Amino acid sequence: MVKVAVLGASGGVGQPLSLLLKLNPMISELALYDIKLAEGVATDLSHINTNADCVGYSTEDIGEALKGSAIVVIPAGVPRRPGITRDDLFKLNAGIVKNLVSSVAKYCPNARLLVISNPVNSLIPVAVETLKRCGVFQAGNVMGVTTLDLVRAETFLAEYLNEHDVKAMGGPIGERTYDKSKMYKFVGVVGGHSGETIVPLVFNHMMSHTLTKTGKYDEFIHRVQYGGDEVVKAKAKDGSGSATLSMALAGSKFVNEVLISVHRREEPRRRANRTSERKNVTISSTFVYLPGLSNGKEVQEKLKQIAGSECRVEYFSLPVVLEDGRVTRVDKSIFDNISQREREMIKVAIQELEKNVTKGRDFVAHKTKL
Ligand code: NAD
Ligand code: LMR
Repeated sequence: MVKVAVLGASGGVGQPLSLLLKLNPMISELALYDIKLAEGVATDLSHINTNADCVGYSTEDIGEALKGSAIVVIPAGVPRRPGITRDDLFKLNAGIVKNLVSSVAKYCPNARLLVISNPVNSLIPVAVETLKRCGVFQAGNVMGVTTLDLVRAETFLAEYLNEHDVKAMGGPIGERTYDKSKMYKFVGVVGGHSGETIVPLVFNHMMSHTLTKTGKYDEFIHRVQYGGDEVVKAKAKDGSGSATLSMALAGSKFVNEVLISVHRREEPRRRANRTSERKNVTISSTFVYLPGLSNGKEVQEKLKQIAGSECRVEYFSLPVVLEDGRVTRVDKSIFDNISQREREMIKVAIQELEKNVTKGRDFVAHKTKL
């Protein structure tokens, strides 16, 4: 029995995300909270013949929405329009996230908290500082959702490699050598979630060689780092908004990984012969607070070696190990075989990340009241 709450459930991301979560058999109850339309969205979804109960909650009912929630996902907040950076959203979204996280601290302090709202690089520090002020902070519970960067990296890498293969082998256009849905073996993304803080890592040397040889490496990196802009620009032709559908898919993938980990924990209790290894689930990157997580200090040291000894990186997106839906360990081996170019990108990312993190931390520090 797992209750999942979505805060901001009626929005462009919130609605398709809630739909995908309604289809997830590991969820028994879906609490849909928003300042508008939550009941309508919940009633609509409740007609779907899957077993998760859907209930809509409006402003005054936030306590009811959150009570008993094992996972809270936050896509509440303002999206970008052309000419606006994610950082420009901070003013509005920091207040929204701080207030919602204060309610999480009050009504479900042990919940795993997954923040989608932008700018993720600053709003995770806002969430962490808020939880600290409320006295309920646990580093393993707080995750910034950066899965969309990985989804894009997998898509674009397959596209460039397929394009090359078609040209090199003279095959028919549209022939698929690389399956987009299986590219997770070959590419990862670390750093943060905006522009140059997003650092794609190509694990397969043959693939990075092909990208370089065909002159597509720069284009690949740029598309992953600025994929969000492509969507904002395309939507601006006839409306406005940023990525919603691809984000909903990415968000539901991430929630699914957390749910698998929550359910695995329960299995050993039922079957005595399970090993503790079975309880751990390694997942794709998420933006976390490194101090307080196992391997976190080692990763901070590695990042210092890459970026310079004066750097003080406390937050980073990287692959993690989950147990019971909580981050127990970060993957320090991710930096072992990176190229010089990837090191340079990480160095640039860290400089920007430090500013983003300070902004979030200062926002909460300067508030007298939560
Ligand atoms: P949207 O405007 O369509 O939806 C936002 C929703 O939040 C609305 O329904 C609104 O009523 C609700 N909301 C506002 N204040 C609230 C509050 N205090 N409590 C509860 N709900 C509240 O925007 P969107 O397109 O869904 O984007 C939402 C956020 O997600 C944006 O900040 C966007 O930048 C971010 N985003 C992040 C990623 C990522 O990869 N992490 C990807 C896409 C979008
Ligand atoms: C994205 O990467 O698509 C999101 O962060 C939304 C945005 O503002 O680009």
